[in-house]
Amino acid sequence: MNFALTEEQQMIQAAAREFAQNEIAPIAARFDETGEFPEASIRAAGELGFMGVEIPEEYGGAGLDPVSYALIMAEISAADASHGTIVSVNNSLYGVPLLAFGTEQQKQQFLTPVASGEVNGAYALTEPQSGSDARAMRSRAELSADGSYYTINARKSWITSGPVAHYIVLFAQTIQPDGSSRGISAFLIDAEAKGFTRGKHEPKLGIRASATCEIELVDYQCPVENRIGDEGQGFKIAMTVLDSGRIGIAAQSLGIAQAAYSAALEYSRDRKAFGSEIGSFQSIQNKLADMRTRIEASRLLVLQAAWAKSQAANNGTKNTLNASMAKLFASETCMFVTHQAVQIHGGMGYSKELPLERYFRDAKITEIYEGTSEIQRMVIARLETGLR
Ligand code: CAA
Repeated sequence: MNFALTEEQQMIQAAAREFAQNEIAPIAARFDETGEFPEASIRAAGELGFMGVEIPEEYGGAGLDPVSYALIMAEISAADASHGTIVSVNNSLYGVPLLAFGTEQQKQQFLTPVASGEVNGAYALTEPQSGSDARAMRSRAELSADGSYYTINARKSWITSGPVAHYIVLFAQTIQPDGSSRGISAFLIDAEAKGFTRGKHEPKLGIRASATCEIELVDYQCPVENRIGDEGQGFKIAMTVLDSGRIGIAAQSLGIAQAAYSAALEYSRDRKAFGSEIGSFQSIQNKLADMRTRIEASRLLVLQAAWAKSQAANNGTKNTLNASMAKLFASETCMFVTHQAVQIHGGMGYSKELPLERYFRDAKITEIYEGTSEIQRMVIARLETGLR
């Protein structure tokens, strides 16, 4: 059994770390404070191929493997979780449905500009009354009598990158001209088209530089060729996408946790109390040992889930279980580690002079978006027991 990264993966990790530490880490606190979208550094990430990591080069991406994507997500998120979120939505939630289910025409037109990082993509599943229970969505796409377009009326909430997205993958209940339902379908939405509006921006506890808003579609006309996959296939597309996305969020959690742990370790070696470095006290040592151990376990789960995804692509299996276990464990580890890191720093952990309080605020979302910890436990237990 070999746990080592390939030479190429190590080079990609080093390149991502250099970019993240030089271009993102120095601006992270400022963008967190203002809540402004970090346009310039996101475009720079695009130039390095980080906005379409697993997308083939012919569609504007970098053509790398899922493990490389996880490494890049961890490095970027260690510098700033907001950047990690923006990168994740572009890559997983927008890129995967188009790559896996899109037509050649859709890939050329809608995937290439987003994967190359010229413009941003978003994913619209959640609605004001349906989050975890995603199938309870009310948004409707009614097929025209001549079958050439859908009239979509939709209200979607918590849309990451919604305020800046050019294109959005949106899910809605499909209604036939006779009024019957065909289940949920996926659609490509152009934010410049008539009938599309952006609603209120969400002020947030963390990942404040990642822009989030509601979006609304009123009598939006979507050409039938902009439906992704078959009618009624939308929920499976949404779930398949999350099987990828959850690996990205697990990697993001790993990155944030690693940054908080490194800071806490350094502080525990420098800071003195009662005549000794605080790292020599058993109470701090216990914390460091638990933090490091949980981070290493997260790292293995993340890499295993990413590897399982690359295998799934080759042999047609699914990586749902690995993705949910990695996301569950890494996000809860992230919350645990950032909490302990603030505690080890004492008053300085609470201060905005250091990034510890930002890591702590940013960590919380990893237990919520792309499926809460409760949903991950439900997915894992259903797969294990075969019961519902
Ligand atoms: N892959 C493919 N198909 C899947 C699947 C998967 N991983 N999981 C379920 N399906 C299929 C099932 O096979 C089933 O198909 P059939 O009807 O043919 O049998 C169908 O989907 C329905 O499955 P379930 O009965 O299991 O569906 P459910 O209503 O009980 O819900 C759930 C399952 C796992 C709870 C799901 O609703 C879920 O994941 N909820 C969480 C939603 C979520 O993660 N939201 C995050 C929003 S995105 C976000 O956060 C973006 C951001 O800001 C960054």
